[in-house]
Amino acid sequence: MIPEPNFPVQPDEFIGRRPQVDAFRHTLKQGIATGRTPSVAVLGDWGIGKSSLLMKYAAVCVEPEFNMLPVPFSVSEELGDYRRFAELLVDTFGACLARSQPIQLRVRREAQNWKLNHINVGPLALQRETPQLFLTSGTAILRHAIQDAWRCFIHPAQLNGVMFFLDDLHNLRTPSQYAVALALRDQFQSFGVENINCSVCFSAPPNYFSHIRTLAEPAVRFYDKVYLAPFSLAETVEYVGAIFDSAADHAELGQWLHSKTGGQYERVYFSRLTDKGLLTRTGRGQYRLYHPLFREFLQQTK
Ligand SMILES: Nc1ncnc2c1ncn2[C@@H]1O[C@H](COP(=O)(O)OP(=O)(O)OP(=O)(O)O)[C@@H](O)[C@H]1O
Ligand SMILES: [Mg+2]
Repeated sequence: MIPEPNFPVQPDEFIGRRPQVDAFRHTLKQGIATGRTPSVAVLGDWGIGKSSLLMKYAAVCVEPEFNMLPVPFSVSEELGDYRRFAELLVDTFGACLARSQPIQLRVRREAQNWKLNHINVGPLALQRETPQLFLTSGTAILRHAIQDAWRCFIHPAQLNGVMFFLDDLHNLRTPSQYAVALALRDQFQSFGVENINCSVCFSAPPNYFSHIRTLAEPAVRFYDKVYLAPFSLAETVEYVGAIFDSAADHAELGQWLHSKTGGQYERVYFSRLTDKGLLTRTGRGQYRLYHPLFREFLQQTK
């Protein structure tokens, strides 16, 4: 394996995170048994491995045991509001439907024409649309598209469900992160109520919920939360082993690398650092720095 710091790791080269991946498999099993999969929030500092974990989860979804359709979607800052988000998400969803093997086997042609015939949401397509399909809100656009796709493709292709992977959800904050979190929760909870097994897994910084906690308690409770910490020593050694096939002492190199990213920091200036978002309180008496490199910086400048 060649380390590529600027890209999420490919699922087949993914290292460690066994408890998080096992928990996700359990979540999918639960969804298949009950007909509705819990939604998941992956929370962690920048560079900790959120996007990599989402890609791994997406790869798990297509395993024959689960047979789900993953829809990966990167939430960028220039996306705008929930409506624009919904339109682009439906576009991506359409492309995933057309590419999905179970759908290609059974309902291929319809899937390729789906967006043209069934769900016209773009500015041009709207002109060709019948009045009752003139959807004004993002919630309505997404709801219509998913109900339609469920009936026409997902169900006939015998897929067990759909999971949307929204990477960097914190970038969507118009009108506010609170409004977005609540809209998303209402949206995906209603699919569960309608027996449409369609859920969401998003990534965000660890303080995503602490910003919205008091205002949107239901939106917080709705998600199974996965807090990502830096690699454990065992994971670091595994990582070193994957990179240096022939290195004599993976353990020693792993120790050294781990000491660069793990460990404790003296509890001074905690409240100021917490206020500035540089320190995250993860539990009673438990804190984590914004990023391991920030700790490195502090130690070098002490
Ligand atoms: N489980 C893993 N196995 C191997 N490499 C990993 C793993 N997780 C992360 N990495 C590596 O660490 C780097 C950062 O990972 P990633 O991009 O997934 O983090 P992120 O939390 O999404 O970062 P950002 O905050 O920039 O979006 C990448 O180079 C990736 O290849
Ligand atoms: Mg990322």
